[in-house]
Amino acid sequence: MLYRTKLFSAPRLLLRECARFMSESSEAAAVPERKYIPRRSLMYVPGNDERKINKIPQLVASGADCICLDCEDGVAINKKEEARNSIRKILDEQSLDFGKSECTVRINGVGSGFEQIDMETILSGPNLPSSVHLPKVENLDHLEWFAAELNSVIASNAAQKIGLILFIETAEGLLNIKEICRRAQELSDDSFFVPEAIVFGSDDFAADIGATRTKLSTELFYARQAVVTAAKAFRMQAIDCVYIDYKDLEGLEKQSLEGAGFGFTGKQVIHPGQIGIVQQAFSPPEHRIQWATQLIKEFEEHQEAGAGAFVFRGQMIDMPTVKQAKNVLQLIAKDS
Ligand code: COA
Ligand code: MG
Repeated sequence: MLYRTKLFSAPRLLLRECARFMSESSEAAAVPERKYIPRRSLMYVPGNDERKINKIPQLVASGADCICLDCEDGVAINKKEEARNSIRKILDEQSLDFGKSECTVRINGVGSGFEQIDMETILSGPNLPSSVHLPKVENLDHLEWFAAELNSVIASNAAQKIGLILFIETAEGLLNIKEICRRAQELSDDSFFVPEAIVFGSDDFAADIGATRTKLSTELFYARQAVVTAAKAFRMQAIDCVYIDYKDLEGLEKQSLEGAGFGFTGKQVIHPGQIGIVQQAFSPPEHRIQWATQLIKEFEEHQEAGAGAFVFRGQMIDMPTVKQAKNVLQLIAKDS
């Protein structure tokens, strides 16, 4: 059976035609806006592991929102080349069907020594991943480097901006998180990326600050809440830590619900058995979906009748509540 990848191949000729009429700096601004992409579960697949790559159709069937082909820490140093070449082949051949799941790639971090070759190999082809994960972002230099490199690698190639998923996983990164988010948004105006999510890299962070990991993860509370707060301040998604004890599904559910309660929009996943629980924990409950659907319907009716604020189920509704309802519907749009 031949699978097709749902990636951004696209009307490149049209883009090039448009680009001819624009200055270089406005090239990036010319590509179309991206739709909201839910990332309730962010599933890693080591880019060099053929057996796990062949499991992708099953991960898609399990409903994983985001499938990340990994070049970074899920791949041994002596397998990096294999991973990046195999990812490029997957993108080129489009032989895997990602269905409704997002296909993304995690490159190695800036300063690792692998970042440039990762980007040149993976992002210079005709088919791009939907988003790129940039790990271990610590300061503005990391972002500036990424933005410049991305523009040079894909500038005339991109039919649509790609999503940028930043990782905060060191003490320095956490201290600089506000400036990092702000700069990412500024850079996106003239670059081919849109900063869409921040991932909290829990285990790297614990190692960096010298914390001992515990079952309750109390040692991470501050960092998790700081990441959520910054992400939300910049209207980005916040993706919570990995639950590495992957056979403990009860513990996974507990930590997932806790993360959702903190305000995270999703969670990293390392094993196929974790997907269902995580997807569920970050999905709105049925009563909330019904509330949002009805509210939006009545909002549209009132808008047509020229009324701004109105009463719904005994509550005054105006724009902020309408936005909350839209958030709920956006999250489940992929499921319907
Ligand atoms: N992607 C795709 N398939 C996976 C998978 C993954 N991340 N993790 C496990 N599977 C597959 C296995 O290949 C196995 O199928 P197979 O027997 O046909 O090969 C099946 O699911 C069951 O796996 P299981 O035997 O329970 O686990 P394992 O011992 O093969 O692997 C881990 C356990 C944790 C090593 C593995 O899940 C893994 O490598 N996860 C990703 C780690 C990672 O990417 N880390 C970096 C990000 S934090
Ligand atoms: Mg990490």
